[in-house]
Amino acid sequence: MRHIETVDEMTRLAAQLRGQGKSIGLVPTMGYLHEGHLALAEAARGENDVVIMSIFVNPAQFGPGEDFETYPRDLERDAALAEEAGVDILFHPEPADMYPTDGGIRILPGPQADVLCGASRPGHFDGVLKVITKLFHIASPDRAYFGEKDAQQLALIETFVRDFNFPVEIRRIPTVREEDGLAKSSRNVCLDAEERKAAPAIRQALAEGEQIFRKNGERERALQEVRRRLGEIPGAALDYAELLEYPSLQPATKESREVIIAAAVRFGSVRLIDNVLIPVKEAAACSK
Ligand code: PAJ
Repeated sequence: MRHIETVDEMTRLAAQLRGQGKSIGLVPTMGYLHEGHLALAEAARGENDVVIMSIFVNPAQFGPGEDFETYPRDLERDAALAEEAGVDILFHPEPADMYPTDGGIRILPGPQADVLCGASRPGHFDGVLKVITKLFHIASPDRAYFGEKDAQQLALIETFVRDFNFPVEIRRIPTVREEDGLAKSSRNVCLDAEERKAAPAIRQALAEGEQIFRKNGERERALQEVRRRLGEIPGAALDYAELLEYPSLQPATKESREVIIAAAVRFGSVRLIDNVLIPVKEAAACSK
């Protein structure tokens, strides 16, 4: 596996690979890799000649007072895991190289960014779309891989790529979980033992909501039950729980083809998110 640390070198190499007719799969990450990230890399391995993984803790998507400084980092361990998963090129630039200037130009996402995580993290998705635009230009991938774990991010990126004609296919990978159902996350290591024991209840609450919704399409009751269960998790504070249409992230209607139940819960300063994406069958869609 080759390490690349500069934007210039990565841009030149990607252009060269494209020139040789090689297909490129890109897996953007912020590192501290776990099986969720590795599932993306493995999917990319199966579909492309060359797999590039980026590891970049992107300052542009962290707000003031968020965990940019304390976000876990371990490049040596990440490199070993990435190589094992079949990554060919590990691109880990420095912030000063990725953001040498700030001309003040912003990418302004629409209403999809105003709900769920976007409501409590103003500017977060501006920063995500900014770094994704840069990574797509630098690595010129044929396909880029994103997890359903961050479904709002996925919805925004799918819409951005479609609406602005980025020549890249967005591949959607299901959430990888711990054995007890907790979604794998780099932030799970920040939980203490009690919190870690309580955290799988997030998944259980969402699964209960899914079951109620699937049975007879009762959106309100499904959401109430999710909120009730999340409210009862010891040591946890509910940030949000919503049932929305996917990928518009607007209120679900009986015409919605896919809905999402998404939640964010805080254990102290650690914020965990999870969701369930539900394709809507005719029966459920029509009953309410
Ligand atoms: P990061 O949180 O490191 O996640 C990188 C990718 O891994 C994202 O597409 C995310 O959805 C996916 N992922 C994380 N946990 C997962 C899990 N348990 N199962 C499946 N996929 C999972 O998301 C980001 O970084 C950044 O916002 C980024 C897109 C890299 C832009 O900076």
